[in-house]
Amino acid sequence: MRGRFLVLDGPDGSGKSTQIARLAARLREKHENVLVLREPGATPMGEALRDLLLHADVDITPLAEMLLYQAARAHLVETVIRPALAAGQTVLLDRYWYSTAAYQGHGLGLDPEEIRRVSAVATKGLEPDRLILLDVPADVGLARLKGKRDRVEGRSLDYHRRVRDGFLVEAKRLGGKATVIDASRDEESVAQDVRRAVEGS
Ligand code: TYD
Repeated sequence: MRGRFLVLDGPDGSGKSTQIARLAARLREKHENVLVLREPGATPMGEALRDLLLHADVDITPLAEMLLYQAARAHLVETVIRPALAAGQTVLLDRYWYSTAAYQGHGLGLDPEEIRRVSAVATKGLEPDRLILLDVPADVGLARLKGKRDRVEGRSLDYHRRVRDGFLVEAKRLGGKATVIDASRDEESVAQDVRRAVEGS
């Protein structure tokens, strides 16, 4: 039986990493075989691209940036996600192509429709069983960030506002397959809503 494919996505500072760790622990208690992955990353190639995209001091055009995220994604889907799902594992993925639509599309000004098409090529059409969008206003999310900001986190407040709005647009397009959760609340309330969204899908 094919495993479940669940994606958590959202703006910087939405608390995704905390909520994914909590959800993974919860599902493992119920004896689900859970694989937690993140984008960009989770494969040696993806982690190398992550370093380039987020930490290298080099100029990258918006189109090139978008394609690099898609390249990391294509490799991850083909070499890790599809085999895991085929083996019946539950895959919890921290960010997917909705991030590219939000950050490089709505944020950097590339055409979101073009990004949706390139994403469909990169993933060969693999869509999650559920997208959980942790929604948080840009200023609230940015205020939560600790430490040195990476290339994307360091962009302007206006940029991050467009990203947040972009996520809401993409979730709306997905209709019933997306759950939008108000992540400006306390961790426990958000965790309860995440659990409910997953258990109902
Ligand atoms: P994240 O893993 O949330 O960062 P952190 O390690 O700080 O928790 O995300 C990494 C960054 O990558 C984030 O700022 C958004 C960016 N990103 C894009 O711009 N486009 C994409 O397609 C993806 C997957 C991530």
